[in-house]
Amino acid sequence: MSQPLLEVRDLSAGYRVYKGFLRVLDGVSLTVRRGEKIGLVGESGCGKTTTMRAILGVLPSNGRVTGGQVLFEGRDLRQASPRELQRLRGRKLTAIFQNPGAALNPVFTVGQQLDAVLRAHHPGMPARERRQRAIEALASVRLPDPERLLNNYPVQLSGGMKQRVCIALALLSDADLIIADEPGTALDVTIEDQVMRLFMRLVEERQSATIFITHSLGVVRQWMDRVYVMYAGSIVEAAPTQELFRNPLHPYTQALLKAVPKLTGGGIPKGIEGRVPDYADPPAGCRFHPRCPFYSPDRCPARPALVDVGNDHLVACYQY
Ligand SMILES: Nc1ncnc2c1ncn2[C@@H]1O[C@H](COP(=O)(O)OP(=O)(O)OP(=O)(O)O)[C@@H](O)[C@H]1O
Ligand SMILES: [Mg+2]
Repeated sequence: MSQPLLEVRDLSAGYRVYKGFLRVLDGVSLTVRRGEKIGLVGESGCGKTTTMRAILGVLPSNGRVTGGQVLFEGRDLRQASPRELQRLRGRKLTAIFQNPGAALNPVFTVGQQLDAVLRAHHPGMPARERRQRAIEALASVRLPDPERLLNNYPVQLSGGMKQRVCIALALLSDADLIIADEPGTALDVTIEDQVMRLFMRLVEERQSATIFITHSLGVVRQWMDRVYVMYAGSIVEAAPTQELFRNPLHPYTQALLKAVPKLTGGGIPKGIEGRVPDYADPPAGCRFHPRCPFYSPDRCPARPALVDVGNDHLVACYQY
């Protein structure tokens, strides 16, 4: 098989806090093939945003990657120079962050920010054409009156509008991989659906790959090729979307899917007993074991490997 676009191997990361070090990511491994649409799901606090930031090398200042590799087209991003990383992030790898306010630069207008991306990607493009492209990008995410919007500063926009500007920015970059962190959350439900459709259509047109972080299993089921399920900083299961919904193997995934009918407003429900563990002192071995109905005192305190059970289906549980 050809080289994957992104291969994350055994990535560990955490945060320094007053009470010590939070060991959040516990050896995350995932693969994204060219053009593939990957959903990343798991309840709040399981480390989805941390995974994204660790991949991109943009953890907050108290965060640190403690081990593993992030291979992008075979090149380890952890070894790349800051300059190289910055270039790569602009062109091949781009992100839409959970908090759109923080992603936009408050001192530049929307137009200036879109223009900066276009200048980086198309050094020879005349200013007039760049302006036209920027207007089209804003229109493509259904922002009204895009010409006027070019002159607006981020603070003049609502959360939903900022989110759409971020999506427009990501799409203008023509990146091979777009990592999107819940880009629907700042939008109301009808607009979320519209923007989701636009986003996926544009991703498909550009044949970009995406890692799409979401709470919505509905979104995953409808749009994604493959799904990674995360629990407390590790990948517990991965499979093609149909396969995962038809045949969930990990007890956590089973609980997650069973809880779906109770899903209201897009949050992963409280249907699963217990809570995400304390990262300062996480359970040894399988981090799900304190909540697991299939707990085995012999097996679970050892860390289960992610094993391939066939059909491109991986699961980390002693039962398989
Ligand atoms: N800067 C930080 N300093 C300390 N702890 C942090 C920091 N950022 C995140 N954490 C902790 O790391 C854990 C994982 O957080 P993360 O934001 O990655 O989860 P998530 O899966 O994205 O959650 P959500 O679905 O709510 O966005 C949480 O316990 C969170 O409190
Ligand atoms: Mg998050």
